[in-house]
Amino acid sequence: MTILDGKKVSNDIKDEITEQVKKMVAKGEKVPHLAAIIVGNDGASLTYVASKVRACERVGFESTMVRMSNTTSEVELLDKIEELNTDNDIDGFIIQLPLPPQINTQKVLMAVNPDKDVDGFHPMNFGKMALDMSTFIPATPFGILELMDRYGVETKGKHTVVIGRSHIVGRPMSILMGRKGFPGNSTVTLTHSHTKNITQITSQADIIISALGVPNFLKAEMVKDDAVIIDVGITRVADDTAAKGYVITGDVDFENVSKKASYITPVPGGVGPMTIAMLLKNTLLARERHMQ
Ligand code: GUN
Repeated sequence: MTILDGKKVSNDIKDEITEQVKKMVAKGEKVPHLAAIIVGNDGASLTYVASKVRACERVGFESTMVRMSNTTSEVELLDKIEELNTDNDIDGFIIQLPLPPQINTQKVLMAVNPDKDVDGFHPMNFGKMALDMSTFIPATPFGILELMDRYGVETKGKHTVVIGRSHIVGRPMSILMGRKGFPGNSTVTLTHSHTKNITQITSQADIIISALGVPNFLKAEMVKDDAVIIDVGITRVADDTAAKGYVITGDVDFENVSKKASYITPVPGGVGPMTIAMLLKNTLLARERHMQ
């Protein structure tokens, strides 16, 4: 069994990006600038955005965090988006999700200039991804592809089962794994809350990508020997013995599933750090496009 070490690979990627930024600086070019809008005070979202800002500093990018109150109206957020769309200094930006209920998420994501949409959530970029055109690929699926690529995990002709059909992970992942190319060329089954007999499906999978958000959902008896297991779950589970009062728990019963798997991602230290590294990659791509 091999651990797919997202922490290590993400650090390698950050080192590679740092080198590219140094070359840009040496040539007198402007460094990439990422902005992140966060609406409200959700603890997990604030932690993620803070990690994204720290990652920018680590590789030499500029970053801007825009904090807006929980009572922000849709119009106020759309105004801020327009400001970032037209700010020539900003190469790419993200709006951290989820948004408060008074705001229509789809309307907001459609307001982002597709050339600055480093999350790849705009329908134009999502459509390009589905049509194999060059574009920004959402960071978490992109990170999973990169992790499999760097470990040489074979995906061609394999049966990939994706659990969860979220717009951020499950849906794009199901499209990407079925695309022509590597990683890809898989036969894909997308499962969700209406799927019947999920164990029957997962137990036939060569690769399982779980993005459900239900701690320890995937048990050893749901997995065949030598399967590749990708765990996207990051649920905070209360734990009085932990310093923060909670532990981050994945969708996979790691202790037992890891005994059967050929490759497996840990939580934390698997997919999570890869997401941030790929956001940086997308921001670098946005800067390069911006220069052209
Ligand atoms: N919320 C959870 N994951 C993500 C992500 O990848 N991007 C944004 N913007 N919000 C998220």
